[in-house]
Amino acid sequence: MSAFIEQLPKVELHLHIEGSLEPELVFALARRNGITLDYANEDALRAAYEFDDLQSFLNIYYAGMSVLQTEQDFFDMTHAYLRRAHNENVRHTEIFFDPQAHTERGVPFSAVVTGIHRALEQARYDWGISSRLILSFLRHLPEESAIETLRQAEPFHAWLTGVGLDSSETGNPPDKFRRAYALAREQGYRLVAHAGEEGPPQYIRDAIALLRVERIDHGVAAIQDPALMAELAESRMPLTVCPLSNLKLRVVNSMSDHPMRTLLQAGLCVTVNSDDPAYFGGYMNANYMALQQGLAMTDSELLQLAANGVEASWLSPEEKALLL
Ligand code: ADE
Ligand code: ZN
Repeated sequence: MSAFIEQLPKVELHLHIEGSLEPELVFALARRNGITLDYANEDALRAAYEFDDLQSFLNIYYAGMSVLQTEQDFFDMTHAYLRRAHNENVRHTEIFFDPQAHTERGVPFSAVVTGIHRALEQARYDWGISSRLILSFLRHLPEESAIETLRQAEPFHAWLTGVGLDSSETGNPPDKFRRAYALAREQGYRLVAHAGEEGPPQYIRDAIALLRVERIDHGVAAIQDPALMAELAESRMPLTVCPLSNLKLRVVNSMSDHPMRTLLQAGLCVTVNSDDPAYFGGYMNANYMALQQGLAMTDSELLQLAANGVEASWLSPEEKALLL
């Protein structure tokens, strides 16, 4: 591991907290909650982490998180992620959670959000890590379900900074969530959406024009559309790129084919993130390492990526100044 990457102060802007659930914790929570899993042990579960595309990952991701039942489970998962983040010199993190994946199973919204929030507060106190929480809508579900989720979130608004959009991208365009995003905006939430991971560049354009997002999660499909790239560079619209995720979900064939350098050199505000680190082979340092090794990125390029993360974050100007 490169000492430069280890000591670099990092900001993470694209992390699904349920994607940080390591097999050891999946089994521990299954035991605690009396749940029988389809896998004999941790190694057997880990061996199933071979993905053909986004959907083949999502199937295992939703199955894995079914062990989460109580507020304490959500606390333990979030605490474990934050401990790792702290050990990797991540100073600030903006975290997605998928409430519908839990409320659909009968877990109360309040247990989910309270467990996560309590761990975020403790990490701020113990380790000085700042954070924001982003409620993410599942795009394979109807818009009505997203709107109902916004309603359930109302008593917890003070703990929630933004809303996002994730899950199966193809066939679930941004346009489907216009009303939910308009409502979230009226309620004062900041807005982001996954777009251009497996979906076309048009989904990136639509997330910006129809949903009015201020950041794009993934967005690597912009590489197929030079005019869009120029617009994203001009506006400094941040892309929260996830290199190891793109490799594992076969968005790119190899790290040496990853568009990160091309996007960076074109002046886009591209950032490095881990997405679902328990499933994709690494946390923040591993993602920086993958760029260093696969694309021979220099320390000065890695530093620019880290600075872009600070720029793209929802920290105040004063807090940003402390990180740069
Ligand atoms: N949910 C968790 N990880 C995701 C990803 N990479 N894309 C879409 N939805 C997700
Ligand atoms: Zn994601």
